[in-house]
Amino acid sequence: MLSNKAAGPAKRTSLHGHWSSRMAFILAVTGSAVGLGNIWKFPYVAGQNGGGAFVLVYLACVAIIGMPVMMSEILLGRRGRRNPVATMALLGEEEGKSRNWQWVGGMGVLAGILILSYYSVIGGWTLAYVFKSGMGEFFGADATRVTTIRDGFIGSWALLGSFHTVFMGLTVYVVARGVERGLEQAVRFMVPALLLLMLALLGYSINSGHFGAGLEFMFSPDFSKLTWDSVLAAMGQAFFTLSIGMGAVMAYGAYLPEETSITGSATAVAIADTTIAILAGLVIFPLVFANGLDPADGPGLVFVTLPLAFGQMPGGVFFSTLFFILLSFAAWTSAISLMEPAVAWLVEHRNRTRAQAAVIMGLLIWTMGVGTVLSFNVLSEFKFLKGTIFDNLDHLTINIMLPLGGVLITVFAGWVLCRNSTADELGGAGTIYKLWRVLARYVAPIGILFVFLKAVGLLPDLA
Ligand code: PHE
Repeated sequence: MLSNKAAGPAKRTSLHGHWSSRMAFILAVTGSAVGLGNIWKFPYVAGQNGGGAFVLVYLACVAIIGMPVMMSEILLGRRGRRNPVATMALLGEEEGKSRNWQWVGGMGVLAGILILSYYSVIGGWTLAYVFKSGMGEFFGADATRVTTIRDGFIGSWALLGSFHTVFMGLTVYVVARGVERGLEQAVRFMVPALLLLMLALLGYSINSGHFGAGLEFMFSPDFSKLTWDSVLAAMGQAFFTLSIGMGAVMAYGAYLPEETSITGSATAVAIADTTIAILAGLVIFPLVFANGLDPADGPGLVFVTLPLAFGQMPGGVFFSTLFFILLSFAAWTSAISLMEPAVAWLVEHRNRTRAQAAVIMGLLIWTMGVGTVLSFNVLSEFKFLKGTIFDNLDHLTINIMLPLGGVLITVFAGWVLCRNSTADELGGAGTIYKLWRVLARYVAPIGILFVFLKAVGLLPDLA
């Protein structure tokens, strides 16, 4: 089977093991993609950026930019079969170009560390809501009560910090256990269950929310509300939600069996991820409007709307607890993938065991997370550049590092790797391959750079 492939890559195997099947890989990447980005972040950034037009740009970015970047990451990962730093060094060298491409992998590792530092805090927040729901705190609560509960929780650095610690501990635990035993098990049940529960919630919001208003907010684009900043935010969101631009998917691709279709897998993941985000919006906005809440409320939006909905629902205590359990799972399977590149790197370059590497990274990331914990309470008035420490980390990673990583990854896959190498991974030089190549060589890099330069004001308006 492998005989007609280039001798090197076909024989390479990963130090960390492989996914047991194609389905396992799709589930793992879906587990990485579906997370807080879909349910916590998507509704609030869409809300802050005016809704409809933002959603449209986001969808376009997923299709035109997200897909080719994701395919590039998987193919690079599978060809290199190492952590993103080593993979880019190795492939750069193998193609007779420079090893310096490893710095792109390095930036990805760093982005993962930075993102996880705040992701873990929000993950902890989700975990806390499992207990709050279970204890019936939201039962029958109105908007004011739910808001007070939320503000009380994030206002306490000790509480927020404790749950951040628990969440980080859980992440380290799974990463330490390794690819097959740890990562795979977690996603098998979580993604389908989450989808089902979102559908149930959709039923509730159709019946009890201002569904028309929500629908209109999400889908009737008002382009006058769209600034280049919000286009950048929509593009950043596409990267974030698909887990691309920092090597997470590349790291997972390194454990992908030879014969699996990359295009098919990437398509499945993108569809699942987008569906869950859109569903989250359709659940949340009708409730926002029915309860007189502000769609631009920010990071706390889902932590008000959903408890509010559950509080009024028959069986709400049960469903609310279940929902936050599932969301914690979703966050957990994403957190694992944020950590994987850094851990794989430590194992391969610093001769650590997986467990040691996971603990070292965990401690480092936990410490950095304290900055985010404090930006919701003690340091909430400490603002610079884009706002609090959390706001700055969020902007730096999502709107700058991920898109920049995306440009460099597609340029690497599209221009540095030769035609034979990429066609080999993408299953021959057919139409889909040609489409990928045009997107990866021209459309994605130019598109990303254009939006980026526009948003920072470096490209003047032509009109
Ligand atoms: N995609 C994840 C989410 O939507 C976050 C993530 C980003 C995970 C980047 C890995 C890499 O929650």
